[in-house]
Amino acid sequence: MLHYVTTNPGKLREASSYLGEAIESYEYEYAEIQAKTLEPIAAAGAREAYREVGEPVVVDDAGLFIDTFDGFPGPYSSFVEETIGVDRVWELTESETNRDAEFRCVLAYCDGTPAEDESDGTLAVNCFTGVVRGEIVAPRGTGGFGYDPIFEYEGETFAELTPEAKNECSHRGRALASFAAWYDDQ
Ligand code: IMP
Repeated sequence: MLHYVTTNPGKLREASSYLGEAIESYEYEYAEIQAKTLEPIAAAGAREAYREVGEPVVVDDAGLFIDTFDGFPGPYSSFVEETIGVDRVWELTESETNRDAEFRCVLAYCDGTPAEDESDGTLAVNCFTGVVRGEIVAPRGTGGFGYDPIFEYEGETFAELTPEAKNECSHRGRALASFAAWYDDQ
């Protein structure tokens, strides 16, 4: 069985809406290492989650990258949401002329297979990335989670979309599509 490892109900809702019964949720908070990109964070999380679960796992690491702040908060999105909050991120961006931003999501899969050319016990991980570009706007909408109310894509914020509609265009939906195509082939 494939386990989708997260403590975030919003991520789980979207993954379940896409992958249905192919996944079983597993609530576990893996340590997030510090890195400038999402891939190493997701890969380390997948290895730790596999050691916890003992069966194939997928973990999901995501972030909001704002152009005018050179990609900040990016890998620090979680810390920024917990400290200053989403409304404050909008306020900081409001006076900028360029409010372009992108969401990125990396899904990392680990099933315990040793990595090639590794004799130190490192486990292989496959990463699948999804990106969506949009604009930071004043908060709107009551759905979604995290930064969804301030991220607008083609006239609607992600918080104004159902999980299914968000999956059709979102970073997570794109990463899920790429993962599902690969997983079906296995
Ligand atoms: P993490 O992937 O759990 O580390 O999430 C990083 C931060 O991005 C957290 O503050 C999440 O709430 C936020 N986040 C992750 N995915 C999404 C999304 O799809 N929409 C809005 N915020 C997200």
